[in-house]
Amino acid sequence: MKRIAVLVSGGGTNLQALIDAQGRGEIINGSIAAVVSSSPDAYALERAEKAGIPGYVIDRRDYSSNRAMTAALVDKLRQLDIQLVVLAGFMTILTEEMVRAFPNAILNIHPALIPSFAGPGCYGLHVHEKALAYGVKLSGATVHFVSPECDGGPIVLQKAVEVLPDDTPEVLQRRIMEQCEWKLLPQAVSLFCQDRLKVEGRAVRILDCL
Ligand code: GRF
Repeated sequence: MKRIAVLVSGGGTNLQALIDAQGRGEIINGSIAAVVSSSPDAYALERAEKAGIPGYVIDRRDYSSNRAMTAALVDKLRQLDIQLVVLAGFMTILTEEMVRAFPNAILNIHPALIPSFAGPGCYGLHVHEKALAYGVKLSGATVHFVSPECDGGPIVLQKAVEVLPDDTPEVLQRRIMEQCEWKLLPQAVSLFCQDRLKVEGRAVRILDCL
């Protein structure tokens, strides 16, 4: 059984999708062992508590730099014997020590079809504002492994939805969450826990069930 840590900063709807999937037995060979929040006020911590999952806070304001915060986080994850780290709306930029500590073992969910609308400055509603301003007809979500390049690691799963003529950033964000993010993230986590994700350069091959 792989021990999973979910890193959060806000509402935690993706965390909830993982908790619900786990409740339905859909996270095969994995268990959410910890939720780590960058903010003590994140509603995600309440979701963890309700589900009986230990919650921890690693607050950037308690550290002198992102590097010092990353080091504390890596220590905590090692203490907890974590094998998979899931970034589910985690808003602090981690330094490369994190990727070195968990090579090809950190998954991130991004609310666009990478490489579109990704990279520095593309987070939250900005992603959907940019997609609408560009006039794309499709957007969606991407689960990818985290590499030192922001939003640049190997892509695990993607799913698209239509962009509709009257969409606002909020409406598009909600459609992408409901139809893409909340489905893709549990699927990717379960595949990882079953050792079915094989990274081959930039690509990720999904292996059949044994
Ligand atoms: C999601 O849109 C996710 O794609 C992005 O941050 C948001 C987190 O939302 N990385 P929530 O906290 O899971 O509700």
